Amino acid sequence: MSGTQTFLLSQRDTPRVESKNQPVLACEDNLVFMRQFSDEAVTLVVTSPPYNLGKNYENKTSIDAYLETQERVIAECVRLLHRRGSLCWQVGNYVEQGEIVPLDVMLYPVFRAHGLKLRNRIIWHFGHGLHCTKRLSGRYETISWWTRSDQYTWNLDAIRVPAKYPGKRYFKGPNVGKLSGNPKGKNPSDVWDFPNVKNNHPEKTIHPCQFPVELVERLVLAMTDVGDVVLDPYMGVGSSIIAALMHDRMAYGCDIVPEYVDVARQRVRECHAGVLRTRPMGKPIYDPNQSNGGH
Ligand SMILES: C[S@@+](CC[C@H](N)C(=O)[O-])C[C@H]1O[C@@H](n2cnc3c(N)ncnc32)[C@H](O)[C@@H]1O
Repeated sequence: MSGTQTFLLSQRDTPRVESKNQPVLACEDNLVFMRQFSDEAVTLVVTSPPYNLGKNYENKTSIDAYLETQERVIAECVRLLHRRGSLCWQVGNYVEQGEIVPLDVMLYPVFRAHGLKLRNRIIWHFGHGLHCTKRLSGRYETISWWTRSDQYTWNLDAIRVPAKYPGKRYFKGPNVGKLSGNPKGKNPSDVWDFPNVKNNHPEKTIHPCQFPVELVERLVLAMTDVGDVVLDPYMGVGSSIIAALMHDRMAYGCDIVPEYVDVARQRVRECHAGVLRTRPMGKPIYDPNQSNGGH
C-alpha cells in the first residue's frame, strides 16, 4: 500500500500535518490496515461497521460471532486512539425474524471495558426507509461518541446552529435587556436530523449504506483541529474521508470491496478539483408543507 511512511506517527504528540496531503485509502481488511499505525496516532476514529444484515458487502453470522469480530476491531481502534481523541461508532439495529437487537447497546460494554468514556449517544434521525408492517418503521440510528480521557478535543463553536429565537433577551435580573443566547448560535443537541443517502441525494453512489458527508463534518469539526488525523476503518465509498479533507484534516481509510475503494478515490479527486457534490451543512431539510420544500 502507498504512503505507509506517512502514518507511522509519533506516540508522544498529537499527530498533525500542516499541509493538505493526499489521504491514504487502502483496499484491505481493517485489522491489517490498522496494524501499521503507531499507538495514539489518530485523533478521531469515525465509522459505521456492517450491521450483520447480510448486505452484499458482509457475510451474515451469529450475533456472537459478529460481536467477537467487532471486539477485535474496536481493540485495535482504541490502541491507536490519541489521549485527546474521540471514537464515534455509528450503528443501527441487527434484525432477526422481526426482533431487533440494538447494536450500540450490545457494544457498550466492549467500549467501557477499554476504559473509554461515553460523552453522547447521538440520535441520527432521518426521514426515509423501509415501511414496517408488524412494528414501527425505524427512522433513527445512533452514534456512540467515546473519548479516551477527560481532556478531549472539543470545538463547540465550530458546530453551533442558528438559535430558534436569536433576539431573545433576559427580561429580569442583572442581565435584563441583554441577549440571553450565545450570538454564535446554539448547541446542536444530541438529536441530529440529516437526510439519509437515498437515490435523490446528491451524494448517492453505488454503495447501499453511505454516511451523509454533513453528518461526519459535524463530528470532524467538533472533535479535531486542522491537521489532525481522522481514520475510518470501514470506509465504504469514503464519506468520512471527504468530510476530513473538506476541513483540512488528514484522512485514512480502508474497505475490503475494491469497487467502493475506487469510488472513494474518485470522490477524493473530485473533492480536490472542487467539483464533488455534497449536501451543504446547514441546508434545511426538505419540507413538503413549505413552498419549494423550504429551500
Ligand atoms: C456500513 S458500510 C460503511 C459505509 C461508509 N460509512 C460510507 O459512507 O460509504 C460498512 C463497510 O464496511 C466494509 N467492510 C466490511 N468488513 C470489512 C473489513 N474487515 N475491513 C474493512 N472494511 C470492511 C464493507 O465493505 C462496507 O463498505
